Formats: sequence, structure tokens, C-alpha cells
Amino acid sequence: AAAIDAAAADLAAKRQLSLRMRPRRNRADAWTRRLVAENRLSTDDLILPIFSVDGENRREPIASMPGVERLSLDLLVAHVGEAVELGIPAVALFPVTPIDLKTPDGAEAANPDNLMCRTIRTLKSQFPELGLVGDVALDPYTSHGHDGLVREDGVILNDETVEVLVAQALAQADAGIDILAPSDMMDGRIGAIRDALDARDHQLVRICSYAAKYASAFYGPFRDALNTGGLLKGDKRTYQMDPANTDEALREVALDLQEGADMVMVKPGMPYLDIVSRVKQTFAVPTFVYQVSGEYAMLKAAAANSWLDNDKIVMETLLAFKRAGADAILTYSAIEAAKLLRQMRG
Ligand code: PBG
Repeated sequence: AAAIDAAAADLAAKRQLSLRMRPRRNRADAWTRRLVAENRLSTDDLILPIFSVDGENRREPIASMPGVERLSLDLLVAHVGEAVELGIPAVALFPVTPIDLKTPDGAEAANPDNLMCRTIRTLKSQFPELGLVGDVALDPYTSHGHDGLVREDGVILNDETVEVLVAQALAQADAGIDILAPSDMMDGRIGAIRDALDARDHQLVRICSYAAKYASAFYGPFRDALNTGGLLKGDKRTYQMDPANTDEALREVALDLQEGADMVMVKPGMPYLDIVSRVKQTFAVPTFVYQVSGEYAMLKAAAANSWLDNDKIVMETLLAFKRAGADAILTYSAIEAAKLLRQMRG
């Protein structure tokens, strides 16, 4: 006892705590931190969303998304080429539909020669090894900006919409899409699309369902990009999920998996990391997350004011998705992140 008292007095004299465990030891050097790191971001995790427009030599900046442009196919090829060269595995396609092609029934969505299908064919022929993700939803094609058909009293029709979505999905599959990503949130669309694909020998076309897609205010800049925001009457709360809910996201994911989804998506990203984590832990299936336009706009605005360090904040947010359990991340920062990852590897 006297020896212990003496040791304690000795430590006190040196103003040291008596600690056996010092978590800071594992943070003491860069090499230790590398060894104990639990999660890591890789270029293999990234999917780049891109906006295509009709015409030639067209490059249109999107004010609320600094650094992102709508590109005609001739210019898009160079942009996508950069992503391919950096090792990004896939791009997600968002064509801009001219206003005169938008109708209440969104029929242009299923036109086998629409801009989406032409974008698919162009990119497939240029980059056969690149994965192409096609959005399935009617909002870029409807004159009212909704993802589904609207009845006179304003109700968004479910089963009638699914019929059009199936036709839209088949047109993309015939054009060569690899992953169909229904982002519309109608009930039953995954099963209907799966059956139609299989009946037409598209067994290997994958479905990544936007299973837990919330009615979010973070999509604003995307609606600017596609010119759909100004058209939208009302909101999307009768089909997209209530931000108040978590259990409901698990039910949505369970249904989409039963119906044949190969991957599921949570959207938006940063404010919904709890959903990513719960979905991954509950189902142990490929779980994607979408860092949406509003999240990108928010970070870029702060970085432009030098309130945040752009490169550090981009990498920290993407790593946070990995920590939450995401397998892949759709992000408008995919190219800048891939460049930073390449630099870090030196
Ligand atoms: C369309 C769709 C939206 C986004 C992806 N697909 C917008 C919406 O549902 O209103 C948003 C993507 C983003 O904000 O980056 N169904």
C-alpha cells in the first residue's frame, strides 16, 4: 500500500494521470491512423450524375450547382471520358426534356428515340465498360412536373403510372441501360418492371430502387437543372416519404427487395445517415446513397465564401456515407473526389 501511495505521489508530482488506456496512442502518427482506419472511400464507390441536353456544342451552367453543367452529347462524351479515365465505375443519366415535348401523360418518357435513349446509345458505344444508371420517373417529361399521372382532382394515380414507367424502363433497357433506377416512389413498380424486363430477355438489367426517397427540400437545384421546378404544382408528399419516418423506410426497402430490387437507395444523403445505417444493418444488401443537389449546393456555397475548405469537406461527407454503411454514393462531386483520391495515393 505504501508503494502504491508513493507511485501516486510520484505521478502527482509529475502532474501525470494514472492511465493504462490512452486512446490517443492509436492516433499519434499518420501510419498508425492508416492502420486502424475502419472505413475508407474509394473511387470504386462513386457514381457521377450527369445532365444531357439536345443540340451540339451546348454547355449550360446551372446557377444553383456551381461546377455542374448541362451538356450536349458531343461535349458529354469528353466529360464522361474524364470520369472513366479516373476509374469511376458508373454514371447516372438525367436528360433535359425541352418544354414542347412535355405533356400531361409524359409520353416522351417511353419514346425509344428520346434524349435518354440517345444518351444511353452514345455512351454505351463510346464506353462499353462504363455502367449506366437510368432514372425511371415521369417528372422530366410531364407538363405538371409530377413523377406520376395526375387525375383532374389532383390525385397522383399509382397503377396507371406504373404502366407508363414499365414502358419507360423497357425503352431504356432496349437502348442498353445497365441499371434502372426508379425514383418515382409509386407502389409496385419494381415488381412490374422486373417482370417486364424478364419477359423481354433483359434478365441482367439491374434495378436499383430509390426505396427510401423522402419528400425533401434538398432537390431544389436538381429541379432547376431539369427545368421541372417551375412547373411543379403542389408537392410530392403523397408519394415521397415523410422526413419524420424511419420504420416506414424499412418497409419500403423490404417491399422493393421482395419485388426484385438488386440494390436499394436512400435519398437525400447527409441528413439521412440514420436511414442508411438502419437499412444496411437490417437487410445487408447493396445500399446506395444519393448526396443530392441541395447538399452539393450547400457545400459549394460555403466553400465559395471560404467558410469551409472545399476539398476537406467533400471528402469528409463522402467518408461519412461509408461509415454509415453505404456501398456506393451518387454525388456531383464524384470527379473532384476521384482526383483527390488519386492525389492522396500520390
Ligand atoms: C426525379 C428525381 C429527383 C432527383 C432525382 N430523380 C427530383 C425529385 O424527386 O423531385 C433529385 C436529385 C437531386 O436533387 O440531386 N424523380
